[in-house]
Amino acid sequence: MKILLLGNRGQFGTAFEKICRMRGIECIAPSHSELDVTQPQKISHALSKEAPDAVVNSTGIIDIGECESCPLDAYKVNAQAALYLAEATAEKKITLVQTSTHLVFDGKSHQPYTEYDLPSPNTVYAATKLISEHYAITRNSKSYVVRFPTLFGHRRNEKSGFVEKMITKLIAGDPLRIADDRMDCPTWSEDAAREVAEIVVSRATFGLYHVANHGAVSYFDFIATLAKFLNSQSGIEAAKDKEFIARPPKPLRLAISSDKRPALRSWHEALQEYSEVYR
Ligand SMILES: NC(=O)c1ccc[n+]([C@@H]2O[C@H](COP(=O)([O-])OP(=O)(O)OC[C@H]3O[C@@H](n4cnc5c(N)ncnc54)[C@H](OP(=O)(O)O)[C@@H]3O)[C@@H](O)[C@H]2O)c1
Repeated sequence: MKILLLGNRGQFGTAFEKICRMRGIECIAPSHSELDVTQPQKISHALSKEAPDAVVNSTGIIDIGECESCPLDAYKVNAQAALYLAEATAEKKITLVQTSTHLVFDGKSHQPYTEYDLPSPNTVYAATKLISEHYAITRNSKSYVVRFPTLFGHRRNEKSGFVEKMITKLIAGDPLRIADDRMDCPTWSEDAAREVAEIVVSRATFGLYHVANHGAVSYFDFIATLAKFLNSQSGIEAAKDKEFIARPPKPLRLAISSDKRPALRSWHEALQEYSEVYR
């Protein structure tokens, strides 16, 4: 199988390329400058040149604040590019994997959201990702939409996610205040990548999948567990989410799980293995 991966320097793309290498899957991964997904002629050219069996689109503007201030750019990269990709892949009967986010939900549920729950996005970022899902599913019948929760893991670009920022502070021994009412199921990007590769290679039924390490956890419990794994001397105090000002406000309870696939290993087990490189 030959896969064309877009977004190879990002958090998911970095992990997906590694998993392809480990599984012996041929993975062509042009950089952002080599293939800008907002340019449809570049997409068509790459599909004709590489003739992949599947395209994995993990490009995006994922900074919520950036999407709010530049909604048109967010639409072009997150949504319109998915439209171009869906139409171009459909024309050549190529499978499309469109990545998306748990942020499409409103965060009011006390249970993890499954594939059967109704999205209700409340940010530009989430809205553009939901539109990308719609484009993928409606324009290419050979599409997978894979939604992730908060990811942690190595990435090749200079950005830094929530968990990586916390690791830096925990290693430095900085004191932390963390919300104990914000729920998620933080997921190691390599576990997410392994699952997405399995969905594609095993030719699972096309459609929507939630991809997450098993179990919901509060940010406080997650970071306290991480501190233990890192032998950190940081003092960690529990706080309430409303004490932290986020513009726009982020939905509070965003754990997801899959009703369609067997559960992945727990976030606890994944975090323990991931944190070993920092010890
Ligand atoms: N990270 C998370 O916690 C998280 C959580 C839920 C869902 N997701 C979803 O997972 C997917 C991947 O996210 P990520 O965390 O890997 O993002 P990321 O680290 O920000 O990486 C995004 C990638 O997209 C590339 N890119 C941006 N604009 C592009 C363009 N116009 N043309 C081509 N490439 C472009 C970037 O290239 P350069 O770096 O070279 O500019 C980078 O490789 C996204 O769909 C996101 O919504 C992520």
